[in-house]
Order: sequence, then structure tokens, then C-alpha cells
Amino acid sequence: MRDVTLLDIYEHHIAQKYLKRSGMAHAIAVAYHAFQLAKEHKVDVDIAAKAGFLHDIGHFTWYRNGKWDYELYRKNDIHPIKGAERAHKLLIRLGENPVQAKATSLAILFHTDSFLPSNDIVRTPLQKVVKWADEKDEEEGGTHHYRIIDHNRAQKSIIRLDKMIDEELSKRADEGNTNPSN
Ligand SMILES: [Fe+2]
Repeated sequence: MRDVTLLDIYEHHIAQKYLKRSGMAHAIAVAYHAFQLAKEHKVDVDIAAKAGFLHDIGHFTWYRNGKWDYELYRKNDIHPIKGAERAHKLLIRLGENPVQAKATSLAILFHTDSFLPSNDIVRTPLQKVVKWADEKDEEEGGTHHYRIIDHNRAQKSIIRLDKMIDEELSKRADEGNTNPSN
């Protein structure tokens, strides 16, 4: 049994406010990719999906004269730092286990190199999975941030992914119990 589900996160007003800003459809797509990649690479599917879902929660709106200014964004953006902190606060408020909340927050912090002075960080397998998941859903010109999804469809997708996570976690627990080396 998980302490916090994706649905708990999805329904929180903070997640609604900031994930809509960076694109709810993108957040959900990245959560699914992260789940799939986590399965393949045998890393924690729950943390991967949550980090994937929340990876862009730190976005600020870089507007100049009513239009998004990519130059301002490129120069000044710190969305992974802001996102790591915002997601951590939200997860802890929802009752997430602190060890898991920290791992999720770090995966968000390192999901891109865009804000770092150099690109030489060594990522854990979980952190790599979240980065790849985001890259899988990226579209040229940042249009992935503008894809629309209605509330009903978004909620259904989240509930479905929660179910997939629960199934994978119980499958892994069963495998662990029947593994004679344990
Ligand atoms: Fe993203």
C-alpha cells in the first residue's frame, strides 16, 4: 500500500495550478514513460512515475509583452530547483514517506541539465529514467507544454497508472517472496 497515490497528487490544488502551467498532458505522458522505463530498468516504479508526473511543477512563466520569451527562459530558468522543492513540500504534506519524497525530489532536480553550468552530473538509474521519460515526450519548439487534456480524461489516465503501479509493486513483492536467495 502506497502512502500517496498519483490521484492524491493530481487532485491537490497546488498540482493543478502548476502542472496546468507547464502542461497536464505532458506531465501525464512523462509519468507513463517513466513508469515503463522504470519497469524495464528495474527501478522504483512509484517514485519514477511521481517524479515524471511532477518534473515540471517548478516552471515559471517567462512573459515579455504578453508572449513567452524563450531567451529570458533560457538565461534565467531554475525550474528543476523550484520543482524539486515544490514537489517535496507537496509530497510531505500529502503524507509521503520522507525517504521516498527526497528520492522523488532529487529525480526532479536532475531531470535536465538546462539550468546547470556544466553537464557532468552522474545520475542514478532512477534519475536517468526520469530524464529519458521527459525527453521521450518533448516536441520541437516546446509545443509539448501546450497539449491539452480534459479533466475527465486526465483523471482516468491517472487512475489507470495508479493501478499499473500497484500491480507492478505487488508483482515485485511476490517475486521477492518466492526468490530463494532472499
Ligand atoms: Fe518536461
